[in-house]
Amino acid sequence: MNTVLVGAQWGDEGKGKVIDFLTEESDVVVRFQGGSNAGHTVVVGEKKYVLHLVPSGILHNGKHCVIGNGVVMDPFDLMRELEQVESWGFELKGRFHISERAQMVMQWHRAIDVAEEAARPVGAKIGTTGRGIGPAYAAKVGRYGMRVGDILKPGFLDLVRDQVAEANRKLVSLGAHTLDADEMVRLYAPMVPALMPYVTDTVQFLHESLENGKSILFEGAQATMLDIDFGTYPFVTSSNPTAGGACTGSGVSPRAIDRVIGVLKLYTTRVGEGPFPTELLDADGETLRSRGGEFGATTGRPRRCGWFDAVVARYAQRVNGVDFWAMTKLDVLDTFQTVKICTGYRRRDGFVYQTFPADLDALAQCEPVYEELPGWQCDTSHVTDYSELPENAKKYVNRILDLVGGKLGVLSVGPARETTLRIGV
Ligand code: GDP
Ligand code: IMO
Ligand code: MG
Repeated sequence: MNTVLVGAQWGDEGKGKVIDFLTEESDVVVRFQGGSNAGHTVVVGEKKYVLHLVPSGILHNGKHCVIGNGVVMDPFDLMRELEQVESWGFELKGRFHISERAQMVMQWHRAIDVAEEAARPVGAKIGTTGRGIGPAYAAKVGRYGMRVGDILKPGFLDLVRDQVAEANRKLVSLGAHTLDADEMVRLYAPMVPALMPYVTDTVQFLHESLENGKSILFEGAQATMLDIDFGTYPFVTSSNPTAGGACTGSGVSPRAIDRVIGVLKLYTTRVGEGPFPTELLDADGETLRSRGGEFGATTGRPRRCGWFDAVVARYAQRVNGVDFWAMTKLDVLDTFQTVKICTGYRRRDGFVYQTFPADLDALAQCEPVYEELPGWQCDTSHVTDYSELPENAKKYVNRILDLVGGKLGVLSVGPARETTLRIGV
């Protein structure tokens, strides 16, 4: 069984937690896009683990973890994370693999990311994580990027020098500080032996795994509404976090994918700038943020919070072909007297959008249309079986399923590993 798992909203749906749950029944976990902009949290007992680049499957000794070709990888972030993973007591040897086709995020990509963001006027800022993601993908598509495999070549440090010179021209034009080529060479030289043991042809590794009957779990980072093609462009990330990205970012064919699981938070959050139709700027939004602990796992920024948006979820269901939903954070809604679901966006002339419009100016003219349902006002965080849920919580979940399609596969009622109910997967 090969499973693609994707975020259905604007990220931070609880993908890390669900990956950890599904890793039990998988052999290989693969990241296929994004980079250290991701922050995936797994809570085991009292311990909280946050992973950025390394697949969340690393917390299960014996399972293989792959950084696929579609990822942009900052070697410093990776080394820091690998040290952390080892300090937590997990083995890396023989089970952690980096694609030689993956792109490198270099110091100048980070500098350009920050400088470009600073140069954007208010209203046009994206609120990037500052991890160099956009400039690294720009280099890839512009065909002047540096691949992980390049570090194995003798000319690697000369390439660093050339790229610094080029990046400095860009930094000057942005009015930012330039980088020193000698210092960069000094910084990157130790990366060669450090990364070498992990770098391999992961396309070959994944195909051998498939031929040997192993099951692969594809760990999406970011989410559908942050997708460079399908999200709220330009307020998006620079990769394809949607299900199709799992194939292009790993070298595994669509024919090998058996199912797609979408992770859906039972309300909505967004971190960074850009449209958010159901955003709540009132006490209800504050309740969601404090009860849900909605602060970025990568940047610590407070997340914007709002009601569940069925337009977004239905769109995500279609774009990804979601078979099963992993619904998360039901417990966060426990105290509300009533809960709202957005079913459409009404334009001033009365037209109601049932699908997410591509045109953000059109979206800005719209008001969300809400259905209001009674809350359940009791603690669901100790529920261990779906049948024990309060009737109103079941009604809320079922109404969402009616509106968005797909089946319920997993329901999460707390951050910890044990608070995960298996339903239909
Ligand atoms: P990801 O980026 O999709 O992996 O999600 P993050 O880890 O950035 O954010 C999800 C946050 O919600 C983390 O702090 C999780 O520990 C927490 N979480 C996940 N599922 C649940 C849940 O069902 N209930 C509660 N209360 N917290 C959850
Ligand atoms: P996970 O995997 C939430 C957002 C940033 C910004 C935009 C572009 O934890 O769900 P970037 O640095 O990628 O160029 O920033 O995308 N963003 C995320 N928001 N969760 C994430 O990852 C995100 N990764 C990027 O806040 O708005
Ligand atoms: Mg996150």
